[in-house]
Amino acid sequence: MTDQVAVLFVCLGNICRSPLAEAAFRQEIARRCLAISIDSAGTGGWHAGDPPDLRAQAVARRHGIEIGAYRARQVTLADFRLFTHILALDQRNLSDLQAMRPTDAVARVGLLLDHVAGREGQSVADPYYGDEAGFSITWDEVRRAATGLAHTLFPEGRRDRR
Ligand code: 4NP
Repeated sequence: MTDQVAVLFVCLGNICRSPLAEAAFRQEIARRCLAISIDSAGTGGWHAGDPPDLRAQAVARRHGIEIGAYRARQVTLADFRLFTHILALDQRNLSDLQAMRPTDAVARVGLLLDHVAGREGQSVADPYYGDEAGFSITWDEVRRAATGLAHTLFPEGRRDRR
């Protein structure tokens, strides 16, 4: 069952927020000893082929995760058939994804913070134009969302909180 689940995280540039969401969720899934398809993409293609922002790499590294080999890409129509769940990092990404969702889409499209109690309907703020501290806030948000999303998708695999 779990090998049929495939999760894509989508922000604007795919160099700050969605790579961190991907990294946090990969860590959460590995902790649960599950193996599923996980990726991230941007609604925009300006940074396609680029590694994550150095500040995003740094905050991931501080939490024991190396994301320097990730490469940005733009979301495609095929993603709606390849992934079962597409999670938007903010409301604008969500509306852009809903507008491009093809009629034969497999994916459910939703907002990442809907998986954090009390944060439903909210956006993960874009840290790109801010300072390093903003990336720590982003990490905290995507980390909590990764746990909530894993609980939603795999309730039977729930483990005691660390
Ligand atoms: P992200 O942040 O959507 O979290 O990857 C951004 C990265 C780059 C730009 C905007 C947002 N940009 O305009 O280049």
